[in-house]
Amino acid sequence: MSIKSKKVSETMVQTVHMVRPNHLNAAGRLFGGMLMQWIDEVAGLVGKRHTHMNVITASVDNLRFLRGAYQRDVVVIIGKVTYVGNTSMEVKVDTYKESLEGERTPINHAYFTMVALDENDKPTQVPRLELETDEEREEWERAKKRREIRMMRKEEGF
Ligand SMILES: CC(C)(COP(=O)(O)OP(=O)(O)OC[C@H]1O[C@@H](n2cnc3c(N)ncnc32)[C@H](O)[C@@H]1OP(=O)(O)O)[C@@H](O)C(=O)NCCC(=O)NCCS
Repeated sequence: MSIKSKKVSETMVQTVHMVRPNHLNAAGRLFGGMLMQWIDEVAGLVGKRHTHMNVITASVDNLRFLRGAYQRDVVVIIGKVTYVGNTSMEVKVDTYKESLEGERTPINHAYFTMVALDENDKPTQVPRLELETDEEREEWERAKKRREIRMMRKEEGF
């Protein structure tokens, strides 16, 4: 691993989508699977920017659909690293609907665990995370608790 550390702000990713007819489910809302693809791509991009390596999604949790989105809605997705372990990172992905005035309403959030892979597709160490703001430090502390819960679930086979 050549990169020692990265700041949260250096690897943050934001994407914007206009909801089109081919993104809708039969009920006329944004298809959940479409949004899951978009947020998984964002989490992967964040992980690649943090590590400069290939990353895979190990798990997704606290995935919550808070509100629906509809045709012509503008959907903004923001992903950032909240925690790094040894070979894994937690990436928080927040999704908003943006009005014409630029006001953002949360519609989804999720926490991805991304694992960095070496040239042999084996988990490999990720760069450290430089925390610059109180918000980032608080998110890190919360992420430690989420990681403990994940590990407990894994051990117990949930
Ligand atoms: C993710 C994967 C590499 C983990 O394999 P593993 O044998 O458990 O590997 P390790 O024990 O070395 O764990 C690697 C890291 O993943 C984390 N991890 C493993 N299982 C996890 C889970 N269920 N939830 C969250 N993190 C997990 C470990 O904590 C570890 O992180 P750390 O080094 O920061 O502590 C393996 O399960 C895999 O390849 N899964 C398929 C991934 C995939 O194809 N994704 C979809 C396409 S991108």
